[in-house]
Amino acid sequence: MAKTYMIGNWKMNQTLAEVESFFANLSLENNQNNFWISPQTLHVQKCITLGASTGILIGSQNCSDQDYGAYTGEVSTESLIEMGGHFSLVGHSERRAYYQESDEFINKKIKKSIEKGLVPVLCIGETLEQREAGDTFSIVLSQLKNGLINIKLNNEAELIVAYEPVWAIGTGKTASPEQAAEVHDKIREKLREIFGELGEDISILYGGSVKPSNVATLLAQKNINGGLVGGASLKSESFAELCAACSL
Ligand code: 13P
Repeated sequence: MAKTYMIGNWKMNQTLAEVESFFANLSLENNQNNFWISPQTLHVQKCITLGASTGILIGSQNCSDQDYGAYTGEVSTESLIEMGGHFSLVGHSERRAYYQESDEFINKKIKKSIEKGLVPVLCIGETLEQREAGDTFSIVLSQLKNGLINIKLNNEAELIVAYEPVWAIGTGKTASPEQAAEVHDKIREKLREIFGELGEDISILYGGSVKPSNVATLLAQKNINGGLVGGASLKSESFAELCAACSL
């Protein structure tokens, strides 16, 4: 069965004082190593130290497709692992849109992450224009397929997929549970096609204006195995509520 995760994506937010206050006020129950946070890279080390007592696992919002060398500004998968990082988001729609990340590049980052033992969270999702043109399934499934070309897994814990419709990110417009569920069902079908039985157990998270008030109905859908949350993950009380919904 696919495990349920709650992942906070802090994007380029939080001062050091806010990070400290977040962890000082955080109280979590029933943590099964499934509550994760990706702060901005400069705060990764601090969060690993502060998060240790709550059992929160920390990752980055991006990683390099290369081992090491002259790649100014990149995040090394090896260094991230070395300092205790657990995962990296890969192909977030903001990186696809603002930094022109292609499926091919994203595929290389997924390969590198898995090779080094970092869990990639592959983010996919359509824009409003694409949805209105009736292209949601074809866009999402091609991002999925292309991102996973030649990816081999030993077990389901090595990869997470996050469906984030671009029109729902930071807009307050959440996909309805039915809208999200029909895309998640298609993603599940494709994962089964690519990975066989293992595809049944890979977690598929939903992201896009998830908050404490809508998380339970989203998580009630068969193939929604957790959330990837921006705004509502920034405050400890709200993040704790989202995590609590995972055990319902
Ligand atoms: P919001 O939860 O703020 O809509 O952001 C979603 C997101 O992009 C998480 O990666």
